[in-house]
Amino acid sequence: MAKIFVTRQIPSAGIEKLKNKGYEVIVGPEGMISREELLEKVKGVDAILSVLTEKIDKEVLEAAGPNLKIVANYAVGFDNIDISEAKKRKIYVTNTPGVLTHTVAEHTIALMAALMHRVVEGDQFVRDGKYKGWGPTLLLGEDLENKILGVVGFGAIGKRVAEIARFGFGMKIIYYDLAREPEAEKRLEAQFRSLEDLLKEADVISLHVPLNEKTRHLISTKEFGLMKKTAYLINTSRGAVIDENALFNALYTNRLAGAALDVFEYEPAIAGSKFDARELIKLNNVIFTPHTASASLETRTKMAEMAALNIIEALEGRQPPNLVYQL
Ligand code: GLV
Ligand code: GLV
Repeated sequence: MAKIFVTRQIPSAGIEKLKNKGYEVIVGPEGMISREELLEKVKGVDAILSVLTEKIDKEVLEAAGPNLKIVANYAVGFDNIDISEAKKRKIYVTNTPGVLTHTVAEHTIALMAALMHRVVEGDQFVRDGKYKGWGPTLLLGEDLENKILGVVGFGAIGKRVAEIARFGFGMKIIYYDLAREPEAEKRLEAQFRSLEDLLKEADVISLHVPLNEKTRHLISTKEFGLMKKTAYLINTSRGAVIDENALFNALYTNRLAGAALDVFEYEPAIAGSKFDARELIKLNNVIFTPHTASASLETRTKMAEMAALNIIEALEGRQPPNLVYQL
């Protein structure tokens, strides 16, 4: 009987799907699994269903041993997995694209609107008992309408953000990606820019790139120097795409109007364990969510089912549908 280790508790729909196949399914803890437990529990398994807090590196793949056929990541991003090592060992790696696109896009727009309309500050103001009456200039924010949105990374999520921003809020869209997207440019009334031009022109910049060696610290001191002082930065991709220390300096010195972050460079530490970045949390021109951009009930259930399906396909000898590379 095939044995599957699910590294953390995930929505039960995924677990049930695997159990219904008759597999032996072992599920990790509700909270973070320790490295020791991870290395112990993967021993001899045929499949690992991993979540993004677990580093699936050479040591883990080695500990699993020769039965391991697939690592099914419960996320669209897969920077937590050592891809070249998995490939070398002919292990399938899959992710959960598509099903979370609209959820992450909605969350991105929610952060953008909350930041620019000062929703979090307003909430705090009311809770602090400071609301003594309506004021003509109380907590003035900014409209999204007619602002230029610069989308960095024009994949499924970036495009959906552009679509809502363009047709829901009347924003103007510019984008940067490695390749031009002529069809999407037409559909979304979007214009291509070099990264440098995008950073110079955009009123709001939203990041939607995967984390890899090319995108690590894509946004650092030089890039903040190019942005408008009135610009806002939104990040629902991966924390390390931004040099968080440089972000702190940009916000602290008013090089940037504000930021909304769902992800952090030294996650789960909010805003870092290094440099000035830990001070981010003290600034009131930045708002946070705890890596919850895909966290809707519907989507997390679909992600669990999708990861389970990838495992079933691999264990039944077929190619799983959501491979991140071809073996
Ligand atoms: C979440 O961050 C994901 O990559 O799915
Ligand atoms: C994300 O980029 C996706 O493919 O859903």
